Amino acid sequence: MSTEDDIKVNIKADLVSAVNSNSYIEEVTKLGDKMDVVAGEDILTNTFHKLISAGTKIDSSFYERLIEHKLLKPIDRSLIASDAVNTDKMVAEASLLLARDPYFKKMFMKYHDLPVQIMRNVHLENVLALKMTIIKEAMPRLFKHSIQVALIAIYLGIRAGLHNKDLFKLAAAGVLHDLGELHINPELQNPEHRLDDDDWHQIYAHPFVGYLILKEFPYYHPHVSRIVLDHHEKVDGGGYPRGVKREEINPLGQILAVAEVAAGLMSKGLASEDIQAKIKLCQGEYERKYLGYLMDIFRTTSNGENSAIAHDLKTIDQKMSDVNYIINDWHHLLAKLNQQQQDQQLVHTVTDRLKYLHMKLVGTGFVPESAEEVYITLGDENDDWLLETGTIVDEAVFQIYKIIGEVKRRWPQHKDSHKTRTLGEYLSIWMHDTEKRIHTYH
Ligand SMILES: [Fe+2]
Ligand SMILES: [Fe+2]
Repeated sequence: MSTEDDIKVNIKADLVSAVNSNSYIEEVTKLGDKMDVVAGEDILTNTFHKLISAGTKIDSSFYERLIEHKLLKPIDRSLIASDAVNTDKMVAEASLLLARDPYFKKMFMKYHDLPVQIMRNVHLENVLALKMTIIKEAMPRLFKHSIQVALIAIYLGIRAGLHNKDLFKLAAAGVLHDLGELHINPELQNPEHRLDDDDWHQIYAHPFVGYLILKEFPYYHPHVSRIVLDHHEKVDGGGYPRGVKREEINPLGQILAVAEVAAGLMSKGLASEDIQAKIKLCQGEYERKYLGYLMDIFRTTSNGENSAIAHDLKTIDQKMSDVNYIINDWHHLLAKLNQQQQDQQLVHTVTDRLKYLHMKLVGTGFVPESAEEVYITLGDENDDWLLETGTIVDEAVFQIYKIIGEVKRRWPQHKDSHKTRTLGEYLSIWMHDTEKRIHTYH
């Protein structure tokens, strides 16, 4: 009944060596300094030599001895922690987020304690409880992230009308989705560290390592393990570790992938407008309806109810034509510049940013013609279309503001001294014109 044979993952990783890395053994033994960690059975080397007897209390003084030998089993199979993470502790962390975080409050406003009830169904096997305990103690941000992802996935699942049994799977997969990160070299978390090929391999491998860990437990395999495997996949095939497209991604894995993106955005302290903008730019990479459910949360509303921003056709049409005008106007300006001016870094930056913006707009189905024409041909979908196009066009205006802001910041470097019109003069004409067009939308 196992479905792992049909999964092709181009990653070299085996469970015993991934789990028994020196850094992981260091974390496990350090946990023994904070709480009782006891060997529940004899710990053997791969040549069946007894290294540590059952019942021994393990702490950091055992580190050297444990890394000197190759162990027969993943180390955490043989250990029990006294104060390990359990269902109650995860529910407590979830309750804290639900009570304090306005986005989570908004997500579950209509669903009362449903998310807590679903979280109560997440059961942790001993080994997984130990792993979650190490995450909680050594990587508290990752622990919080795991609970966040579980809650967002539950929200998306409820909105999609899933049955409880699928919501339970999503909750478990959410909590356990980044277990593989526990076995990544901790040096990779250091922003100073320059990633080499081997590092990238580890990062790309973490969903697969998580899958391998869960595969050992019939309780989670294959229904939870498969969701975890796919939590960084994208419907356009641009994700990892398999790089598969929509139909091949586990349907609940698609939800988890969107929850992963949302949790990342929520933890950066961004303004809701910025989060919306970033979600919009993810269109095409994730299932549209889930991105729509997220947008309902990050849209700024006065009363916290899900409510669509009123977009009227005339304003959208005007903004759309302004955005197009601004992009075209830049190209006209480029044609007037001499070679030296064109080579200026600032000019390249603006060109690239506008090109990227245009590409993204086309990719989201933004039609750079008259909004009115498109609207008339749409029939019943009018309202959805208005909302979506209105939001995208707002995002485009926001991006243009950012570009203008950047030109202003870098302005002093661009006082050039040509006899003909200077680059500064050209830029100032373009900026003046652009700002005049968009200032009422701010
Ligand atoms: Fe994650
Ligand atoms: Fe991940």
